[in-house]
Amino acid sequence: MTDKSTQPRVLIFDTTLRDGEQSPGATMTHEEKLEIATSLDEMGVDIIEAGFPIASEGDFAAVSEIARLAKTAQICGLARANFKDIDRCWEAVKHAKHPRIHTFIGTSPLHRAIPNLTMDQMADRIHETVTHARNLCDNVQWSPMDATRTEHDYLCRTVEIAIKAGATTINIPDTVGYTAPRESADLIRMLLERVPGADKVIFATHCHNDLGMATANSLAAVEAGARQVECTINGLGERAGNTALEEVVMALKVRNDIMPYQTRIDTTKIMAISRRVATVSGFAVQFNKAIVGKNAFAHESGIHQDGMLKNRETFEVMRPEDVGLSGTSLPLGKHSGRAALRAKLKDLGFDMADNQLNDTFVRFKALADRKKEVFDDDLIALVHDSATNAAHDTLQVKRLRVICGTEGRQEAELTLSIEGVDHSIDATGDGPVDAAFHAVKMLYPHKARLQLYQVQAVTEGTDAQATVSVRLEENGNIATGQSADTDTIVASVRAYVNALNRLILRHERSEMGYDTKGVSYKDQS
Ligand code: KIV
Ligand code: ZN
Repeated sequence: MTDKSTQPRVLIFDTTLRDGEQSPGATMTHEEKLEIATSLDEMGVDIIEAGFPIASEGDFAAVSEIARLAKTAQICGLARANFKDIDRCWEAVKHAKHPRIHTFIGTSPLHRAIPNLTMDQMADRIHETVTHARNLCDNVQWSPMDATRTEHDYLCRTVEIAIKAGATTINIPDTVGYTAPRESADLIRMLLERVPGADKVIFATHCHNDLGMATANSLAAVEAGARQVECTINGLGERAGNTALEEVVMALKVRNDIMPYQTRIDTTKIMAISRRVATVSGFAVQFNKAIVGKNAFAHESGIHQDGMLKNRETFEVMRPEDVGLSGTSLPLGKHSGRAALRAKLKDLGFDMADNQLNDTFVRFKALADRKKEVFDDDLIALVHDSATNAAHDTLQVKRLRVICGTEGRQEAELTLSIEGVDHSIDATGDGPVDAAFHAVKMLYPHKARLQLYQVQAVTEGTDAQATVSVRLEENGNIATGQSADTDTIVASVRAYVNALNRLILRHERSEMGYDTKGVSYKDQS
């Protein structure tokens, strides 16, 4: 047995709430961000990048509150290479026990051309901004955006300037997911060898997944000497996403024989947070996704099932329990009591206060009345559904009746509560979903366009719950809503209304002069 206590530590930097939330449609509410940050802190993430404070009042408020709440993790905010961004970032993170400022500028030829800075001008800018950040905070991370497409000599020069100006972590982003494992390792090795002072700082790797190599590139960088991996839950992020936290952590754990590095992550919390992020971001996890996909521990073929029964290691390189899945999955039914529900929910990673449990119990009983067996996935959908369709929402579905079949136009009778007052209408459409969505539009006129409508069965059987995701777009704002119910049409309308509620929230924030998600990287002045 190797002595793990002497193995180098790899810091896990989670950017689900910043880079992850930048994915179109992945907007999270303030409360959801606090909840995710608390879970990240509890699972042992070393650094949480909580947002981009200058981007909006909403981001600022979330970063500030997460900074106040965090117990162990360092709390980091992002800032472009200008004093205003950096000051705002500091204002937000300074409440943390361990604050960090992360400032960046695009150093590749393509990115230098945007602010139209010469190499020398950019070098000066890096010196000034990192010095400014370091005067505010003794924990400063600097990133040369698009590092993997930056000339090596210039990359070494800028990294040296940042270190001399006081950066304590140098992050090397593969912003467009362009590198490959060997190149990723060579780049870190080159920087460690060539840059004076490189041995005094931590090098980080930040990989995007455009070519599907993000996790492999991150691990290669670790083998070459990077000691911080930047990642997101479920690999959430712009375009094809980021390195997935669960993949890096489990790869380091399972292949510790060839990658002898330690992380602080409690892997048994992975599944619960993965499911929660999928729900609040509206980005469902693909079934065959490594570690957290529904099929990651499923065995279908006869040979595999036979092998598993004889020895589970024949077809599994890790145990479901290692990532927080309970080994057994005994369903609950309508005779199951509160204690059984509480125990099952705890097993699934939901530690509920009494009032939350009461609420969930009522909904569980209603579901059990309609469905013979309530499986783990049903309960997860139910818990997430109550959390995403909250009592204080502007719009609430009160009553829905749909007439459908082979004859005539389909019809929906809907009662919607709008700011506490009930309104009812009958509408028709091409199919029951179309009719029901028309009814919503007639009761609450809006210009949002439907971008995505997706239905997934939670479990097998004709009485299965359906999880419906709806994505709406209005004036460039995108919001995703989700809901689950044994009645697909009910779930559809509630998901639609949930997305509308999120758009309303965004609209209210921008009316108040904030929430301009998506500041331009170009605005470096
Ligand atoms: O991908 C990237 O380059 C980034 C930077 C802001 C670090 O996310
Ligand atoms: Zn990124």
